[in-house]
Amino acid sequence: MWKFAWMKPAFGVAEGLFGAWAWLWMAVMVGVVALPGPQAHAQTEPAGPQRISCAAVSAATCTVAKSLKRGVNFGGMLEAPKEGQWGATVMPAYMDVAGAHFQTVRLPVRWSNHAAVTEDGLIDEVFARRVDFIVDTLLSKGVYVILDFHHHMQMVGSKLHAGEYAVEERLLEKRFLNMWRQIEGRYRYRSPKLIFEILNEPYGKQTPARWSALAAKVVSVIRVHNPQRTVIVGVPYVGMTAAYDELVMPADPNLIMGAHSYDPFDFTHQWVPNSVTCCSPDQQAQMVANLDKMAAWSVRTGYPVHLGEFGAIENAPLDARAAYVRIMRDGAEARGMGWAYWDFVTTFAVYPQASNNWLEPIRAALLD
Ligand code: BGC
Repeated sequence: MWKFAWMKPAFGVAEGLFGAWAWLWMAVMVGVVALPGPQAHAQTEPAGPQRISCAAVSAATCTVAKSLKRGVNFGGMLEAPKEGQWGATVMPAYMDVAGAHFQTVRLPVRWSNHAAVTEDGLIDEVFARRVDFIVDTLLSKGVYVILDFHHHMQMVGSKLHAGEYAVEERLLEKRFLNMWRQIEGRYRYRSPKLIFEILNEPYGKQTPARWSALAAKVVSVIRVHNPQRTVIVGVPYVGMTAAYDELVMPADPNLIMGAHSYDPFDFTHQWVPNSVTCCSPDQQAQMVANLDKMAAWSVRTGYPVHLGEFGAIENAPLDARAAYVRIMRDGAEARGMGWAYWDFVTTFAVYPQASNNWLEPIRAALLD
């Protein structure tokens, strides 16, 4: 009844029960006061952002989605055509630090550049053992590991990266499925904390329709030996825009949708150092709108969403980077979404390899 305190002087001489109720009813009739009760209480709650839903997935995958929490991408390492080619390798210390401070590590792996060019796509055993070692070391630290099939430029119809080799066009899809057949078989006995991500950022040739069909095929390949493992299906991109509404999720109760967000792009990807800052009200509105779209998609489809990449390049002003990171991280958490910052030690680093240490204030914006 505290809500009526401000009306007290107005009661004047109309003290007593009858007088008070008379005033209250008049107020209700003219719409000044809502009757107390659960409904009135709900109206006083601040309207928080929409949170992701688990309506279409199993309890186990819902738990995974909620446990991914704070994560980091091991970008630029196994992502390069060959590990080390982009200047970074996975060091034991990186696994120690990430394992101690994050709940999730997303591990981008360029499988396609370590496999035969023939239809069987036979994966190089030496490379696979290197991946095993990293996956197992990270799992032993208790973190979730997102094993992400990253950069197969031909699959999206883009120019190949230097050091990436081509395969015959007609073999592409079968070879892709055969690589997944090997990966899913290889990791079938790993803990449920190992998550597969089918393909990083499907775009270009992977139109939303083609991507939705391909993702369904990969999910059935994975289900042969991993009937319940959580799998991340990325949202397709048309141009630079994530085409949420055009993604048809495979019918499977152990999927999470993987969304990325790099808006404002001219800030996060600035090539001329200190040329664009962040975060004006317009820039913030753009960032929040993206997060809202993810949550709304989740509520509409019932699949949880993971924010698998966001980050700002080292060229951006440091304080603005921290401000950006803080808004994105808080925004994801307010919507119940786990996130993974791009990236750990390379060009967007929170733990730059040059200093081999945390970069403040990015660390604080992510972890405090
Ligand atoms: C790419 C990286 C790139 C990052 C930020 C990732 O998906 O694989 O090479 O640095 O996005 O643009």
